[in-house]
Amino acid sequence: MRITTRFYRLFLLLAFNALMLLESHGFTDETDKQVLFEFKSQVSEGKRDALSSWNNSFPLCSWKGVRCGRKHKRVTRLDLGGLQLGGVISPSIGNLSFLISLNLYDNSFGGTIPQEMGNLYRLQHLNMSYNFLGGGIPASFSNFSRLLELDLFSNHLRHGVPSEIGSLTKLVRLNLGTNNLKGKLPASLGNLTSLREMSIDNNNIEGRVPDDIARLTQMEVLELSMNKFSGVFPPSIFNLSSLENLYISYNQLSGHLRPDFGILLPNLRELNMADNYLTGSIPATISNISTLQKLGMNHNSLTGSIPTFGKVPNLQWLLLDTNSLGTYSYGDLEFLNSLTNCTQLEFLMISRNRLGGDLPIIANLSATLINLGLSANFFSGRIPHDIGNLINLQMLGLGVNMLTGPLPTSLGKLSDLGLLSLYSNRMSGEIPSFIGNFSRLTELDLSYNNFDGVVPPSLGNCRILLHLWIGYNKLNGTIPREIMQISSLVNLSMAGNLLSGSLPKDVGRLQNLVTLNVADNKLSGKLPLDLGTCFSLEELYLQGNYFDGTIPDISGLVAVKRVNLSNNNLFGSIPGYFAKFSKLQRLSLSDNNFEGCIPTEGIFQNATMVSVFGNRNLCGGIKQLKLKPCLAQGPPVETKHSSLFKKIAIGVSVGVALLLLFLIASVSLRWFRKRKKNQHTNNPPSSTLEIFHEKISYGDLRNATDGFSSSNMVGSGSFGTVFRHCSRQKTRLLQ
Ligand SMILES: *[C@@H]1O[C@H](CO)[C@@H](O)[C@H](O)[C@H]1NC(C)=O
Ligand SMILES: *[C@@H]1O[C@H](CO)[C@@H](O)[C@H](O)[C@H]1NC(C)=O
Ligand SMILES: *[C@@H]1O[C@H](CO)[C@@H](O)[C@H](O)[C@H]1NC(C)=O
Ligand SMILES: *[C@@H]1O[C@H](CO)[C@@H](O)[C@H](O)[C@H]1NC(C)=O
Ligand SMILES: *[C@@H]1O[C@H](CO)[C@@H](O)[C@H](O)[C@H]1NC(C)=O
Ligand SMILES: *[C@@H]1O[C@H](CO)[C@@H](O)[C@H](O)[C@H]1NC(C)=O
Ligand SMILES: *[C@@H]1O[C@H](CO)[C@@H](O)[C@H](O)[C@H]1NC(C)=O
Ligand SMILES: *[C@@H]1O[C@H](CO)[C@@H](O)[C@H](O)[C@H]1NC(C)=O
Ligand SMILES: *[C@@H]1O[C@H](CO)[C@@H](O)[C@H](O)[C@H]1NC(C)=O
Ligand SMILES: *[C@@H]1O[C@H](CO)[C@@H](O)[C@H](O)[C@H]1NC(C)=O
Ligand SMILES: *[C@@H]1O[C@H](CO)[C@@H](O)[C@H](O)[C@H]1NC(C)=O
Ligand SMILES: *[C@@H]1O[C@H](CO)[C@@H](O)[C@H](O)[C@H]1NC(C)=O
Repeated sequence: MRITTRFYRLFLLLAFNALMLLESHGFTDETDKQVLFEFKSQVSEGKRDALSSWNNSFPLCSWKGVRCGRKHKRVTRLDLGGLQLGGVISPSIGNLSFLISLNLYDNSFGGTIPQEMGNLYRLQHLNMSYNFLGGGIPASFSNFSRLLELDLFSNHLRHGVPSEIGSLTKLVRLNLGTNNLKGKLPASLGNLTSLREMSIDNNNIEGRVPDDIARLTQMEVLELSMNKFSGVFPPSIFNLSSLENLYISYNQLSGHLRPDFGILLPNLRELNMADNYLTGSIPATISNISTLQKLGMNHNSLTGSIPTFGKVPNLQWLLLDTNSLGTYSYGDLEFLNSLTNCTQLEFLMISRNRLGGDLPIIANLSATLINLGLSANFFSGRIPHDIGNLINLQMLGLGVNMLTGPLPTSLGKLSDLGLLSLYSNRMSGEIPSFIGNFSRLTELDLSYNNFDGVVPPSLGNCRILLHLWIGYNKLNGTIPREIMQISSLVNLSMAGNLLSGSLPKDVGRLQNLVTLNVADNKLSGKLPLDLGTCFSLEELYLQGNYFDGTIPDISGLVAVKRVNLSNNNLFGSIPGYFAKFSKLQRLSLSDNNFEGCIPTEGIFQNATMVSVFGNRNLCGGIKQLKLKPCLAQGPPVETKHSSLFKKIAIGVSVGVALLLLFLIASVSLRWFRKRKKNQHTNNPPSSTLEIFHEKISYGDLRNATDGFSSSNMVGSGSFGTVFRHCSRQKTRLLQ
């Protein structure tokens, strides 16, 4: 490929020198100077400093970014990439008639691409990627009959891909990715028979990929991801037998894949077809592509078995999650055997399928493995005792299977582990204290299993943990204070266990906590005052415990959306500040011993958002809450009709009522506390169910990606380029 490119350049150079003799009169280097002054004047002020050398006291051919021809001193190259230039591109640039190469990449040029550029018929390289250029691709580009590279990646280009593009018959690289292009691809693309790379990913192109691209037999890299291409997998692609990288993820392709897929495209290295509507089975001939390194077919509707990869020694990524692969049975894991030949395997994601079988086999996979996602299948058996062989694992997702037995000791060797998800299995035994050795752990999900024993205090050593989910097990003992050292924690759920003791006083150290869920345990004592300083808290679930005392001052939790204190022994009045929490959507105070008047403002205006039943001594509030009226409040006293007599009468009745209330309260309190204990276990409050459902649906989501969004990973459709694009954009934002 390189050799041929060089050949082109040599050829063009010869042709150019010949032409130069004919054309060097008319325009002169003085013209070029004027053109560049004009160009500079359109660069926004304040960003022009980079072009300070563009002045009359300095020779044109030494100006920054300017290169001239050796004999004729006309500008042949303009290289202004990454100079932070803004403003618009002056149309006068079309007068630089000797220009061969124009690089404006990585600037902030806005406006449209001047159609006068079409006059630059000698252009071979045009790179205007990473700018903010809008409008369409000018039809005048059809003049670029010598253009080899056209890069307009990451701009704001609109309209369609013009059919005139078919005139650029020498084009080797075409990149129109990450714009807002729409419409269909023009059939004339089939004229670009020299193309080796074509990227049109991340636009809004629709319809079928034109059959004409079958003529582009030199094609090595084809990126069509993140568009709206529909219909079956484009048959024309099967003519591109030189294809090495094919990215067509995030489209609307449907139908089956040809059985001879791997025979027709035998040179593929990276193949990403994720996030389409593909059906049928994975062509077994995929295993004949011995060069394959990355395969993404995740998020489709594929069925059948997974082919073997024993003859694909360089396989690094195998992403097949979120399909309907497998038959729920032991045979499903045969392909795993073959993967032991793939000594460079890094990502194996087969979550969310119908795969069955025993897990032990995974310990024989290559130690290069980084991400192993097996969640939401029908795997059974124990986690293999030698799982510690996979020494480079950073992510282990085994949630929603039927795994049994304890966490094996060798797991402790996986010191790079960042995510460990085992939720919803049938695992048992204790949570080993070596989990505290995972200093890189950011997510630990052991919920919905049968783990027993205590919550290991060593967890406090996981100092960058964000999500700790250990709810719905049989854990007993107290909540270790050490957990409160993990100031990074965003989610803490220990609900549905047998935890006793109190909520640690220094819970206020969890300044990033968004969800605190310790519902349905045997926790007791007073709620710590510090709770009011967890300022990030949005969800607070304390229901179904034995907490007593009054609600401490949590008026600082202004971000809170859901609060459930039901089914405890809390008493005292309902703080008025709940009415002021503007984000609050659900407040459950039922089955406690609260007393006094319910506010009528804020959330208390809506009976579906608050529940207060089961508190004998509450009164007032809006009608729908069906509480007795508060005598204390009485009718509005500020009316004109009120008389002194009325006021006295009200005063007396308030006094009497309060006395009565107090008597009733103190008499019923003991009886009530005794009675309550076993109530909530029989009849979980609806809010507990709600949490359960939230947990599941969130869990499903999380599981679908094994915690790492596959869209982050496979991003703009190509595997490798993704992070490059992202980080560049990030850099731009930071600048
Ligand atoms: C560019 O050339 C056109 C004619 O082709 C002329 O009208 C225009 O003034 C020129 N602009 C500059 C800046 O030289
Ligand atoms: C012209 O450019 C040269 C080279 O950057 C610089 O040294 C000189 O100060 C500039 N002159 C003016 C007048 O800006
Ligand atoms: C355009 O410039 C960018 C940034 O330097 C570079 O990554 C890209 O490869 C260039 N495009 C072409 C076609 O050379
Ligand atoms: C193509 O280039 C020629 C010669 O410079 C010019 O006359 C013509 O206007 C250009 N065509 C377009 C569409 O810009
Ligand atoms: C380009 O292709 C179109 C349709 O495929 C054809 O009609 C046209 O003649 C071709 N143009 C050139 C310049 O080859
Ligand atoms: C594409 O391949 C098919 C079958 O291999 C062949 O019939 C067809 O002519 C090819 N198309 C082009 C444009 O080469
Ligand atoms: C494809 O691979 C299978 C299994 O390794 C083999 O039997 C078959 O001959 C291969 N087909 C071709 C065309 O290479
Ligand atoms: C693994 O590779 C070896 C050597 O290349 C080969 O003999 C063997 O058949 C392969 N295993 C599988 C399961 O394909
Ligand atoms: C793993 O590999 C070892 C040694 O190569 C072998 O003895 C063992 O049977 C393999 N285990 C599985 C489950 O295939
Ligand atoms: C955990 O770390 C401690 C101290 O660094 C070490 O002694 C222990 O062996 C580790 N545990 C495991 C299971 O690796
Ligand atoms: C906690 O659970 C373990 C295992 O079920 C049990 O042996 C232990 O006695 C329990 N501890 C307490 C304090 O209940
Ligand atoms: C009460 O809240 C529910 C759900 O949050 C909402 O659908 C309803 O419209 C609200 N009613 C009033 C009267 O604001």
